[in-house]
Amino acid sequence: MSQDVLILKGIEKSFGETRVLQGIDLHIAQGEFLTLLGSSGCGKTTTIRIVAGLETPDAGQVLLDGEDVTDKEPYQRNVNTVFQNYALFPHMNVEENIGYGLKLKKKSKQQIHEAVMEALKLVQLEGYEKRMPSELSGGQRQRVAIARSIINEPKVLLLDEPLGALDLQLRRQMQLELKRLQKKLGITFIYITHDQEEALNMSDRIAVMKDGRFVQIGTAHEIYDHPRTAYVARFVGNANIIHVDGQTLAVRSENIQLMSQKMDEMDRLPENVDHQKSFVGGLPGMIKEKSFVGGMLRIVIALEDGTEVIASRHGIDADWEPGQSCFVYWEPQAGVTVEEE
Ligand SMILES: Nc1ncnc2c1ncn2[C@@H]1O[C@H](COP(=O)(O)OP(=O)(O)O)[C@@H](O)[C@H]1O
Ligand SMILES: [Mg+2]
Repeated sequence: MSQDVLILKGIEKSFGETRVLQGIDLHIAQGEFLTLLGSSGCGKTTTIRIVAGLETPDAGQVLLDGEDVTDKEPYQRNVNTVFQNYALFPHMNVEENIGYGLKLKKKSKQQIHEAVMEALKLVQLEGYEKRMPSELSGGQRQRVAIARSIINEPKVLLLDEPLGALDLQLRRQMQLELKRLQKKLGITFIYITHDQEEALNMSDRIAVMKDGRFVQIGTAHEIYDHPRTAYVARFVGNANIIHVDGQTLAVRSENIQLMSQKMDEMDRLPENVDHQKSFVGGLPGMIKEKSFVGGMLRIVIALEDGTEVIASRHGIDADWEPGQSCFVYWEPQAGVTVEEE
């Protein structure tokens, strides 16, 4: 287990009457890629602004490499930030933009040039050093911003929705590039997104935030397959929340099976003689809607208690039409018991 490079202890923050962060505790290992995932307004940006020293917490501590930096100025912390709309200096070319930080540190021209060339290579922009920001695409500009933030080798790099302004295809490509870059450099990343797919793709661990608290911290696998609460199951796994036998269960849409008739108990025995799959549930419902979304067939079923359940399928399922009644099933292991939020 590598040493913790960053520790947040009992961080509290209010703006006026509004409590924005409540008891934030987090340990981040050296070289880790940690994502703060949560919907808009849950406190992600405030959390990293406290790490960067751009906000002061009302209570709690920020420890960087074991040192309490809570009351230190931003420039006294070996931390850098990349924002969504990172403003490059419009009157400086790529090389000058990237080298700016080192120039402030009074490095020699030769040192700066070498470091800039190395950084350009890392973000795959070799040959672009004399271009002006206005001559670059959005993705290239964001690469320059990233090159500029890694050039003085921060201990921790904070990235606040850095790919948010890019179109989907470019975002996917940049996700892979960023991840590769992070592993290569071994810099600790704290990455903010409200996009669960992005979080699941890139992170070593994800901290799911809601209303200024962490509701669950874990690997993508832990969060996706073992959500602790109904909120996490919905937000990260797009799961259905079903109340059955006094329990709250999360069942993902691809695991929802529909039957036109209720299966008898025999079919549902876990150890079926002919090793057929076993199913549980058997909740009566009615097909409400059928549509194609992102190449998947999406069937909305209204259960008797009013809960809506979504079943998703690849391809066309001619069997189901709105108005038909059905029974909803899932395999036992596909139903995860969760806490109410
Ligand atoms: N400087 C500020 N003054 C007052 N309220 C703020 C300030 N910064 C953030 N907030 C409020 O704090 C909450 C959390 O904001 P933020 O950390 O930016 O959330 P996120 O990044 O998750 O969208 C929001 O309700 C926001 O309006
Ligand atoms: Mg934000």
